[in-house]
Amino acid sequence: MIFNFYRNHIFPHVLNQVMQVPSLMDARRELLLPVKGRVLEIGFGTGVNLPFYQAVDEVVALEPHEAVFTLAKERMDAAPFHVKHVQAGAESLPFPDQSFQQIVSTWTLCSIAELEQALKEIHRVLTIDGVFHLVEHVLHDESKTARLQHLLTPVQKRVADGCHLNRNIEQALLDAGFVFEQCEYFNAAGIPKIGQRMLMARVRRAP
Ligand SMILES: C[S@@+](CC[C@H](N)C(=O)[O-])C[C@H]1O[C@@H](n2cnc3c(N)ncnc32)[C@H](O)[C@@H]1O
Repeated sequence: MIFNFYRNHIFPHVLNQVMQVPSLMDARRELLLPVKGRVLEIGFGTGVNLPFYQAVDEVVALEPHEAVFTLAKERMDAAPFHVKHVQAGAESLPFPDQSFQQIVSTWTLCSIAELEQALKEIHRVLTIDGVFHLVEHVLHDESKTARLQHLLTPVQKRVADGCHLNRNIEQALLDAGFVFEQCEYFNAAGIPKIGQRMLMARVRRAP
């Protein structure tokens, strides 16, 4: 009961604040600038990405957590394009094959319970010429920090709604059959070292 209260009434507000750290906002701006047309956003959260879309017609906002999505309302009302909420997990996307040319994920792949299945689904709904744009925190390249990430992930999953600190997202994307158009690592300022290493990438289906 206490955990449900935390998950539904406290965690969404903490998430909304944490996801607006300036270095993350800078990364959103860079990632989303070239995104155009109709977009599927995986793990829409509280809608923090909306003001960064410059040339978008519609955002299909996939977000399973109702209390988190509730906090997106003001940003959705202010968006100069249509935002359609779909309450579902990425492991089973309710869309036909090849139905999106642009798919976005910002700090969501860490939280998906069945990552391999979700990437298979993202691959399925992406068009042949489509791009999956993502920025994610990942497993650190320093072994000491990586060990700490493995150690703390069970606790992190509990307090941060399923978030894994220790995922190798680049490898997961390769395993799912994506090829990289862009693959850049950076350390985000203002984030503790165990969650600081970021991957910004744009990937396509392998030909
Ligand atoms: C760390 S938050 C990031 C939110 C948002 N993308 C942002 O950049 O602020 C992770 C998000 O993924 C969502 N999520 C968790 N499991 C998911 C799943 N299986 N499929 C899609 N989204 C999921 C969470 O509810 C949460 O909104």
